[in-house]
Amino acid sequence: MTIEGKEKVGATGEDSEGGITASYAVDDGVQLKVAYSFFGSIYDDEEKNAAWEAMQQDSLTMGPQVAAFQEEYAKKFGVKHALAVSNCTTGMHLCTQLFQLKEGDEVIITPNTFIATTLVLLKEKVTPVYADIDPKTFNIDPADIARKVTPKTKAIYVVHYGGQMCDMDPIMEIAKKHGLYVLEDCAHAHGANYKGRPAGSIGDVGVFSFHSLKNITTCGEGGMITTNRDEWEKPIEQLRCMNLTEYDPEQRDFTFGDIKMHKVVDGDYSDYWIPAHFDVADVNGYWGNNYRMNEVQAAVGRAQLRKLDMLIEKRQKNARYISEGIKDVKGVNGVYEHPDCKHAYHLYTLTVDPEIYNRDEFLRTLYREHGVQGILHYQPTYHFSGIKKLGITGHCPVAEEFFYRRETNLPMHPRLTQQELDDMVEGIRKTAEKLGG
Ligand SMILES: Cc1ncc(COP(=O)(O)O)c(C=O)c1O
Repeated sequence: MTIEGKEKVGATGEDSEGGITASYAVDDGVQLKVAYSFFGSIYDDEEKNAAWEAMQQDSLTMGPQVAAFQEEYAKKFGVKHALAVSNCTTGMHLCTQLFQLKEGDEVIITPNTFIATTLVLLKEKVTPVYADIDPKTFNIDPADIARKVTPKTKAIYVVHYGGQMCDMDPIMEIAKKHGLYVLEDCAHAHGANYKGRPAGSIGDVGVFSFHSLKNITTCGEGGMITTNRDEWEKPIEQLRCMNLTEYDPEQRDFTFGDIKMHKVVDGDYSDYWIPAHFDVADVNGYWGNNYRMNEVQAAVGRAQLRKLDMLIEKRQKNARYISEGIKDVKGVNGVYEHPDCKHAYHLYTLTVDPEIYNRDEFLRTLYREHGVQGILHYQPTYHFSGIKKLGITGHCPVAEEFFYRRETNLPMHPRLTQQELDDMVEGIRKTAEKLGG
């Protein structure tokens, strides 16, 4: 792509806001062979044509494209309802309101996630309680969830880390026993399943992200809430869109001063505008938001959904090639695929044995000498300064060792070339050899 004579917009980070939203490119003289890409999918004419067609519609938001995207998504993910939102964070915030969570309530949550999962709790003054992770899948450990339930616990927020689903059966059992809601943060998990059940179809709600990095993307931002609970369809629609609702027919007999705004003819209202086009009501005391998705995003999302199986197959193929290429390297572990799960490989998480390697030295050598740009997902949430300032702490030794001493995420997306895959395998092998593996 060329804009104003520049090759590859964003490759240097100068065309965007930077940090987490744009690129990890740094001007440090390293010759990159495999960069950590900020685009997780593949676009072609299908997306281009879909976007252009949607742009010519009469309405550009919440129209036929969103309706069709929701219907197709629900079908694909085996759920009764899918409701499009502006992104995964807003979707999870909406669900936090839907669950009527408030100050004094606790939610058990993984520390191994993007900050968004905790932020939506803080917005409603709910206390996050961190449960440790499993050392092989890096997903929340059901045994630690059980230990952390208190009378204040109202929900469990799980994240299917890297595209491999959590052990949902024991999690749902704990939830049932204590009457807790379960939110599945499916930001990494489009195309993943657990015992044949798709991500987002097991908990009370699933919330997906279509951010630029994700397995499918709706022009860089977007989200979807999935649920099997019929009674939540309307409240989700209301919280997503300004608390709008239809007038209760009883309320339509509306009097304003000497103006009588009711008009019933044979039990029917003859004027559509009476008393107004819509009513506004709270949802259990909660005031909503504008968390809507636009039509261009939804049209592109529909094209992406048709590609999902192909995109996941490519991710799996790429990931398994790396795993195969490094399987005999001492003290370096490729991704563990749990037999109950279909891994969607949003991330490729390499771990090193901290008794053999210093992880930072490993990552530094891989990057500086072999041009492979690894990054780290995720610092335990309770170590961020803003969270500590609130007095929120955590005790998750497995998650801490994982982040500070063991993990590296390698570039992983469906457009990796054979050369890039070979460069990664060779870089890992040579790094291990140099550092004593
Ligand atoms: C695990 C996880 N949860 C939530 C989010 C937030 O998604 P969004 O950017 O769509 O709000 C992300 C995005 O990076 C994520 O990785």
